[in-house]
Amino acid sequence: MTVQTKTSHLIERAAKHLRGLEELTRSAPLPPAPSEEAPAARSAPLSPAAFVPPPPLEFAVLEQAGMIPWGRKRDRVAEEFRLVQSQVLRQLDAVAKPGQQSAGLSNLVMITSSRPNEGKSFVALNLAAAIAHFGGRQVLLVDADAKHTSLSHHLNLTEQPGLLDFGAGLMPRPEALVVPTRLETLSILPIGGVGPGRGDLTAKVSIATTVERLARRFSSMVIMLDAPPCLSTSDPSALAPVVGQIVFVVEAERTKRGEVESSLDLIAACPTITLLLNKSQLTTKSTFGAYYY
Ligand SMILES: Nc1ncnc2c1ncn2[C@@H]1O[C@H](COP(=O)(O)OP(=O)(O)OP(=O)(O)O)[C@@H](O)[C@H]1O
Ligand SMILES: [Mg+2]
Repeated sequence: MTVQTKTSHLIERAAKHLRGLEELTRSAPLPPAPSEEAPAARSAPLSPAAFVPPPPLEFAVLEQAGMIPWGRKRDRVAEEFRLVQSQVLRQLDAVAKPGQQSAGLSNLVMITSSRPNEGKSFVALNLAAAIAHFGGRQVLLVDADAKHTSLSHHLNLTEQPGLLDFGAGLMPRPEALVVPTRLETLSILPIGGVGPGRGDLTAKVSIATTVERLARRFSSMVIMLDAPPCLSTSDPSALAPVVGQIVFVVEAERTKRGEVESSLDLIAACPTITLLLNKSQLTTKSTFGAYYY
């Protein structure tokens, strides 16, 4: 089966659930090899005393940010996340096998969508927690979205250094930036980049290069990236050849066919994409569904 056939199948299945959508077709070329480029430190490293590592995030904080209370609640959404996490892990193991098409790093999973507010952070948090809870893997959930409504904001971590500080060479040891949680197999890396003397790190740091270095450093962990939307920034497109798979969130009744098509073209460098239909309860009584190829 060719990549194009698989992709068409994926979109056809999702299109059935989207009002007014017709069959979508696109092709997904093979990705280029990931860059080995090492970033130059742009500023002197921060002093270890410059920040205080936070204590583990409490379940209450995770749940306030949208995490489903695993174990306490067995509702339909929880069950669906449980199913999706096992599919993501199967894809991860498949991509990791020698000779697979993807040149991306198998332990890297990007969550993106076409536009803002479609549920990327909700999906990233719950998928990461589901893999940590049910999948028996160590999971690092990385906030790779620098806008003010990001995951770091939902988790009250906006003042913590994080991904951007590592990328800028201000914090050479990313281990020191990782925030543990009460779910022991789940950790968070905030977006960071705030504080005196940092300037606008988003303009200076290559997210794709930084994420690739991070994934090599934490090679035994599953790294879930809460990325920005494809039609708002170039980051998802730059990350596509670096990641092993992408979970693409489609908001039921809102995302338009043209937006999905344009977005999938932008991330076509990753051949392993799961389309996840979110917020579909109004039409199907299901909160979301996932479609794979
Ligand atoms: N399946 C769902 N069920 C219930 N609420 C949801 C669901 N998906 C998303 N939400 C809610 O919708 C809102 C937007 O979700 P979220 O912040 O995850 O979107 P986003 O795509 O990450 O937005 P942004 O592009 O601004 O980062 C949040 O209040 C979130 O809790
Ligand atoms: Mg978000």
